[in-house]
Amino acid sequence: MKMRPARPLDAARLAYIESTQPMSAHWGEKGMAGEIANAASRIWCWEEDGEIVGFLALRLAAGFCEILNLAVLPAACRKGIGFRLLSHALRNVRESGGTAVTLEVNVRNHPAIALYTKAGLTETGRREKFYDGKDDALIMGADL
Ligand SMILES: CC(C)(COP(=O)(O)OP(=O)(O)OC[C@H]1O[C@@H](n2cnc3c(N)ncnc32)[C@H](O)[C@@H]1OP(=O)(O)O)[C@@H](O)C(=O)NCCC(=O)NCCS
Repeated sequence: MKMRPARPLDAARLAYIESTQPMSAHWGEKGMAGEIANAASRIWCWEEDGEIVGFLALRLAAGFCEILNLAVLPAACRKGIGFRLLSHALRNVRESGGTAVTLEVNVRNHPAIALYTKAGLTETGRREKFYDGKDDALIMGADL
């Protein structure tokens, strides 16, 4: 079990993991590779037995952190991996001088909303019909 930053060669595996989770962002391998290479981006991976089973991606700019993508393989869910990724990311951002975090989540995505709430984030706003003109997005955030 290991937390580590994503490397360029991880792009295909991370794209595969997001493809198993309909509620995650879907960047694809090319988008993932671009994000790994982006200087404002931070992506952490969680490995089990040498294989990545979950990741979290954020951007940090001017002290402001936005969580952009998070997914755990279905078979690895409910084992504390999402919470470990999120806690690690928030600690890292705080240590880097970040002062606030924000994200968008589908109002129907109860597991993710429960995870963010457990980590101390609260609802700060709502975007109506944000996802495909249907579901609202909750905006959640916290000061760090
Ligand atoms: C959201 C997600 C990352 C959670 O990962 P995970 O490793 O299963 O989460 P954890 O095991 O660390 O759970 C931490 C907390 O999240 C909440 N949670 C996670 N899965 C849940 C579920 N299926 N139902 C209700 N609450 C859930 C609980 O509060 C849990 O705390 P608890 O174990 O003390 O009850 C995972 O379900 C996932 O990949 N979902 C699809 C992608 C997605 O929604 N990404 C976020 C987009 S904004």
